[in-house]
Amino acid sequence: MLNPKMEEALNNQVTAELYSAYFYLAMSSYCESISLSGCAKWMRAQAQEELYHGIKIYDYINERGGRAVMAAIDKPPAEWESIQDMFAAVLAHEQKVTGLINDLMNMAQDERDHASTSFLQWFIDEQVEEEASVGEVVDKLKLIGKDGNGLFVMDRELGRRIFTPPAAG
Ligand code: FEO
Repeated sequence: MLNPKMEEALNNQVTAELYSAYFYLAMSSYCESISLSGCAKWMRAQAQEELYHGIKIYDYINERGGRAVMAAIDKPPAEWESIQDMFAAVLAHEQKVTGLINDLMNMAQDERDHASTSFLQWFIDEQVEEEASVGEVVDKLKLIGKDGNGLFVMDRELGRRIFTPPAAG
């Protein structure tokens, strides 16, 4: 059984993950508006991944005898100065999420909640991967700068991304 403190913190994380999905959907739409359909596809896959994260925590709360509750989700920004600016915002956001996951892990350890510690390890590993993949995009976009051909190729590359939920669920 989850203790109420852990339950509330996990519920806050559900909201944070759903906000992330909303944030990336806003970015996907921005990309469509500037005709970067590959980036838009990448952002849509990112949003689907965040929804998956949120539901994974939702299921865990309910499985442990708690109750997942749906809180209000903040309105995300709608405009960015450039594609570089937008991906820099993605990286900053993921770094913030990593901090939230680390805080949750610290709480689970302090509360001697071994099941939550084990559950959260997946998210700790996931954040390492997320920051690395977004960091790579940020670096490549910096190199490309305002070069239209480079951006065209990068957009095509990012458009290959498809979200596939992990098999172990
Ligand atoms: Fe759910 Fe991108 O962290």
